[in-house]
Amino acid sequence: MSNVVVVGTQWGDEGKGKVVDLLTAKADLVVRFQGGNNAGHTLVVEGKQFICHIIPSGILYKDKKCLIGNGLVVDPEVLLEEIRDLREMGLEISPKRLSLSEKAHIIMPYHKAVDLAREVAKGKTKIGTTGRGIGPCYEDKVARTGVRAVDFTEPDTMKEKIRANLEEKNFYLTKFLNAEPLEVQPVIDQYLGMAEELKPFLSDVSLELYQAVKTKANILFEGAQGTHLDIDHGTYPFVTSSNPVAGNACAGAGIGPNQLHHVLGIVKAYTTRVGAGPFVTELTDKTGDYIQERGAEFGATTGRRRRCGWLDLAVVRDSARLNGLNSFAITKLDVLTGLETLKICVGYELDGERIESRPASLNKMARCKPIYEELPGWQDDITEARELSHLPTRAKDYVKAIEDITGVPAFIISVGPGREQTVMVQDPF
Ligand code: GDP
Ligand code: IMO
Ligand code: MG
Repeated sequence: MSNVVVVGTQWGDEGKGKVVDLLTAKADLVVRFQGGNNAGHTLVVEGKQFICHIIPSGILYKDKKCLIGNGLVVDPEVLLEEIRDLREMGLEISPKRLSLSEKAHIIMPYHKAVDLAREVAKGKTKIGTTGRGIGPCYEDKVARTGVRAVDFTEPDTMKEKIRANLEEKNFYLTKFLNAEPLEVQPVIDQYLGMAEELKPFLSDVSLELYQAVKTKANILFEGAQGTHLDIDHGTYPFVTSSNPVAGNACAGAGIGPNQLHHVLGIVKAYTTRVGAGPFVTELTDKTGDYIQERGAEFGATTGRRRRCGWLDLAVVRDSARLNGLNSFAITKLDVLTGLETLKICVGYELDGERIESRPASLNKMARCKPIYEELPGWQDDITEARELSHLPTRAKDYVKAIEDITGVPAFIISVGPGREQTVMVQDPF
């Protein structure tokens, strides 16, 4: 038995969905532990694409159990839509296959309204959130006023919470954010209806995982977002409102640290970022456009064009430390095909001195200049590679440079969006 945690090492969209789908073949259970439907995890199986926003990316396997942990913020409307879409694809989505933690927090319409109105009010200084109400929902969780999934079973408690919360939110929305207030009764009616539909999926996820551990099942923990979007360790305030780092797999799923056996970090072969915030290796030239187009770098959740740049290993090295990475999955290596020279950022120059790690201060970040190492690119198509020996020497050298500079071995190399477009060097399970 072994349990594996998958996390993003950059600013999200590294290809976690593809890798989790791939690794689910070896797992019995797949559990998400943080974030919400700000995530968009793309799976491509037999040429067909599916995007998971809340449901774990193992859901396409008919015999595996997927669990939504207590650490998530769940928009019930989006969850129900995802369940419907999967059923339309012919998949059985029943409580046998899917659990929703009773302790997960529920995204309410006022969370989305506050998220959107705040971004408008911030204007040029906006964070560029996904507008899904993620931050405001986590705020209520920490303020101890949140609605939890368990409240679906106690309509009176839920009604009372919605009433009390809306009184405060409407004041904030109208008096501070100049936005429209929300009516109480339609929110109550809508949520009572959705509660009935979702009630069968409620479960004690921590207990389910405990029982799985006792039967020596393999558990796969699926992170969302990325290490540098982490509320503590990311480019604050241009971050999300949860902890995507591996350590949070414990708190966000309800399992002890002794049950995490391998931490796999997903590294995109270059860097992307959606939304605002520092990005030292960003390319705003033709090379950036080349990567953006070849990589089809558009947000899986909001459709926004992703900012693109060279691989920043200062960022990835920080992630290796913050997550305790045992191995990497390097994704989208195929996107770099055709570039004459490839640059890898190995550290920053800050006020004339070399630094190895990303500074906490945004002002310092703004003064950081990338220190690059250059490697020759390759021209051959690599999307059919299935073994290391199928890769051109220069592509192997690029992978080796990543391993050498970070000290983390690459277990998986992804050369296309499809499940089969993968070189499995070593199995993390
Ligand atoms: P996630 O949020 O980390 O799961 O990543 P996204 O799904 O948001 O974005 C990754 C995108 O790259 C998706 O469109 C994937 O289908 C695609 N993808 C994943 N791995 C590869 C790869 O190795 N090569 C190419 N070309 N595309 C990939
Ligand atoms: P996956 O799991 C990329 C970004 C947003 C914004 C910031 C805060 O698909 O990798 P939020 O709505 O969370 O308050 O927005 O975080 N962001 C992501 N960027 N991939 C994601 O998820 C993201 N989830 C949030 O663009 O900059
Ligand atoms: Mg994504």
